[in-house]
Amino acid sequence: MALNDQQAMAPIPSAAPPAIHDTIAADARELSAKLHAHRTKLFPPKARKHLRRFTSGEVAKLVGINDGYLRQLSLEGRGPQPDTTPTGRRSYTFEDIQSLRAYLDESGKGARRYRPHRVAGEQLQVIGVVNFKGGSGKTTTAAHLAQHLTLQGYRVLAIDLDPQASLSALHGYQPEFDVEENGTLYGAIRYDDARRELNDIIRQTYFLGLDIVPGNIELMEFEHETPKALAMRQSGDPLFFARVARALATVQDRYDVVVIDCPPQLGFLTLSALCAATAILIPVHPQMLDVMSMCQFLIMTSDLLAVVAKAGGNMNYDWMRYLVTRYEPGDGPQAQMVGFMRSLFGDRMLTNMMLKSTAISDAGITKQTLYEVSRDQFTRATYDRAMESLDSVNGEIQSLIQAAWGRA
Ligand SMILES: Nc1ncnc2c1ncn2[C@@H]1O[C@H](COP(=O)(O)OP(=O)(O)OP(=O)(O)O)[C@@H](O)[C@H]1O
Ligand SMILES: [Mg+2]
Repeated sequence: MALNDQQAMAPIPSAAPPAIHDTIAADARELSAKLHAHRTKLFPPKARKHLRRFTSGEVAKLVGINDGYLRQLSLEGRGPQPDTTPTGRRSYTFEDIQSLRAYLDESGKGARRYRPHRVAGEQLQVIGVVNFKGGSGKTTTAAHLAQHLTLQGYRVLAIDLDPQASLSALHGYQPEFDVEENGTLYGAIRYDDARRELNDIIRQTYFLGLDIVPGNIELMEFEHETPKALAMRQSGDPLFFARVARALATVQDRYDVVVIDCPPQLGFLTLSALCAATAILIPVHPQMLDVMSMCQFLIMTSDLLAVVAKAGGNMNYDWMRYLVTRYEPGDGPQAQMVGFMRSLFGDRMLTNMMLKSTAISDAGITKQTLYEVSRDQFTRATYDRAMESLDSVNGEIQSLIQAAWGRA
């Protein structure tokens, strides 16, 4: 029988199209597998990140001794011994650098301290990196700050409080692949009996001295569970805002500084981080829409913190600073915006600004920070400019930490 025109045009009957949630789930599965394969290719053979080696010049600068002395130590066989390349260059692992600090402390009889660990009376520094504007540079700032401090010899804990888990990814943890259930901070602050010790959640990174609490989507549970917990609260239960601080108190002896990367929203997670913090760092990109968004963030934050303070939350901060991120010196409107912010906020703006650099964004493509990549992977001037900017910003924050401890 011949088909009439209408029958010929009709779609061929097929099974019902997949529901949208099935399509999205399938996309997620495929993407996750591809990302994992990508990592295996980037970091063979175990798909694990490892840290590069450091030149003797870098080591001397990091440890704060001169290159001649470092050379003498290696010639005399004292302290950790470097590998020597066929051209006679000495190179050190980061483990060597940490042992060199320990060696110098032990052999130097305390004349000078090479490990800047805090001592009795110096409080754990908890730096909350916050702003609810997406893409303001929170994760980039948090990762580079945590790694900078680690390279300087501090004992650092980085906490990824963002369900997007970019900080974890930068440290080699693919959130849906490597982070098991109850493997985020949520595990230590949840309200039910599945709560576990923060100590069991913390993981080491390939930077000796930098530990991480990774993030993934389960952190969202805290946003859902907190209103229920508030409604059913028994007297004596710690309120939501005390939970992060309480978890941190159980591991504080092992660290000098905690850096918390917050999500781009002002929910219970961010508020809890703010209450655990001893210092607040607000990265902001100096453009009109970003600054307007930050204004809304400041209004909401001050309202919410006032409520929390009334309920007994801790509101003592050693410092709070705005950090200009992705700054382009040749951009007139950005310079004007920075001038405007400086006139408003004065000393609460960090003097140094983080420059926009392809070295930072390119390193990000391979899930690395500028501290991990080596100089010869970039045009030297580009690398040097970015590194100088990073070091000056992080050096300024380091001075604030020192000041909070009452050190010179
Ligand atoms: N100084 C910089 N130079 C160049 N690119 C940068 C710089 N800082 C950040 N970026 C890039 O800008 C993007 C956003 O930065 P980042 O992820 O740090 O922001 P965020 O505030 O954590 O974002 P979100 O709110 O989504 O968590 C990233 O792609 C990052 O590589
Ligand atoms: Mg982020």
